[in-house]
Amino acid sequence: MEYWTARKTGDWRPGELPPGWPEATGDSDLSPADSLELAGLEPGRELRSTGGLTSVRLHSAAASHLAQHSDGSRSEMNDGPQTRYRVRGGNPLQGTVFVQGAKNAALKMIAASLLAEKGRTVLRNVPVIEDVRRAVELAQALGAVVKFHEAERTLVVDASELTSSVLPAEIARRFRASVLFVPALLHRLGEATIEGVGGCNLGSRNLDFHYRGFARLGAIVDEQEDKIHIKAGKLQGAHLYLDTPSHTGTENLIMAASLAPGTTIIDNCALEPEVLDVIAFLSKMGADISGGGTGFVTVRGVSQLTATEHTVMPDRIDAGVLAMAAAITGGELNLVGASLADFGVVRWKLEQMGVDFTPKGAVLQVRRERTLRPINVITSPYPGFATDLQSPIMALSCLADGTSYIRETIFDGRYGLVGELNKMGAKVEVDSGNVVIVHGPSTLKGTKVVAHDLRTGIALILAGLSAEGETVVAPGYLIDRGHAAVAERLTTLGADITAEESG
Ligand code: EPU
Repeated sequence: MEYWTARKTGDWRPGELPPGWPEATGDSDLSPADSLELAGLEPGRELRSTGGLTSVRLHSAAASHLAQHSDGSRSEMNDGPQTRYRVRGGNPLQGTVFVQGAKNAALKMIAASLLAEKGRTVLRNVPVIEDVRRAVELAQALGAVVKFHEAERTLVVDASELTSSVLPAEIARRFRASVLFVPALLHRLGEATIEGVGGCNLGSRNLDFHYRGFARLGAIVDEQEDKIHIKAGKLQGAHLYLDTPSHTGTENLIMAASLAPGTTIIDNCALEPEVLDVIAFLSKMGADISGGGTGFVTVRGVSQLTATEHTVMPDRIDAGVLAMAAAITGGELNLVGASLADFGVVRWKLEQMGVDFTPKGAVLQVRRERTLRPINVITSPYPGFATDLQSPIMALSCLADGTSYIRETIFDGRYGLVGELNKMGAKVEVDSGNVVIVHGPSTLKGTKVVAHDLRTGIALILAGLSAEGETVVAPGYLIDRGHAAVAERLTTLGADITAEESG
């Protein structure tokens, strides 16, 4: 029975998925088959780069492993302390809040700091989140001396001695950004082994652009049943390209090229502000990089990089979530550290919905007094609408007066929120064209919901802030991977939210 028929006949009750609706699909990336096709790879085929000296080898066993675990990355990343968030909605948020440092810049900088053979790197404004703690553990496992002064949000890294080229399974398996440590290991130790990932990395987790880039720079990439081994006598500048402007792929290949003799050109690079911040950091270390923000980056290899000091840019996704917290509760917030310019299309979409932004010097005031209007959102690489804010705006659009349309184009199946919002009484469906249709306005009602991933989780916190009664969001660990001190920061703004052990 179709949703609208079910509604009319009374067979559907708010809080349930209407009969015949697809189950929420979670946050998997491209299907393994799609990914291999995208990469131009077939299972069992060895890819040779220029001169036949380097290769990427995919084993058919690994490929079949992919088929079994197309959403493996999500379940692996659930590992962590058993926490949950309890939110009692209804309070308009008011006050001043600090935007955290950018997760998706800081993680890359921690890895890049291992490129420096001498001295200590100091990173400021590092977000106190679980992903940063995992990156610190990984750097320590490789032999770097790393101290995260959490109260000061400052990280000090001394990578003068690297003692291991192995990215151990217990961390690499649950932390996708592990691949960012490969360039430092190749330059410092001549090889890197990523344990516990096997097929998932080249397929469903989609890191093929990284491995193909390393191969074009002269590395030999060998994927085995449960690990990937990469070896490089000496990397050499080359002409690289990305099939699509991968955010981390751009940063990783720039890092790999920065110490490779000769000139590397990378076509079709990502334009995200975090990429520019990572380039700024590498440039301070002595790297010779030009073309950041143009889509075509040139890296001239230097002989060494030196430790430096850098302040991580503010997190535009955290800022966007806080802006939406003001919007969904009909409140008014002053965001310290939010850059409206970094919002890209997100700013215009929120304004269309009825959210007011007023820069007050270095503080951004966000306010929503009017009735929320429905919205049409298509995610795309920066400066398009950020995929990481797709779930939060879906939650917000449930309150809008009319029908909203949301289309995800970066990650396949990043619609895990749909089913959870319906549990809360929203009317959200995914149509046959994979477009999410949100039939607003709904009065959300608190219930137990599942954070399928980081951004689904924070979107459910937003939904809970506006819902009647109590919303329980678990696992909290996934939210803590990317957003710092969620309960503490929202509580100071008047929210009724607590974090607790799940028991
Ligand atoms: N892709 C491939 N092969 C690759 C790399 C990417 O097929 O080798 C595909 C991906 O599967 C995806 C698309 O290309 O479909 C875009 O992926 P991209 O590489 O740009 O994403 P990412 O670098 O892995 C970063 C952020 C994500 C954010 C995306 C898009 C980090 C650590 N992660 O991922 O952040 O969604 O860029 O902006 O920087 C998050 O913070 O919640 C998060 C998922």
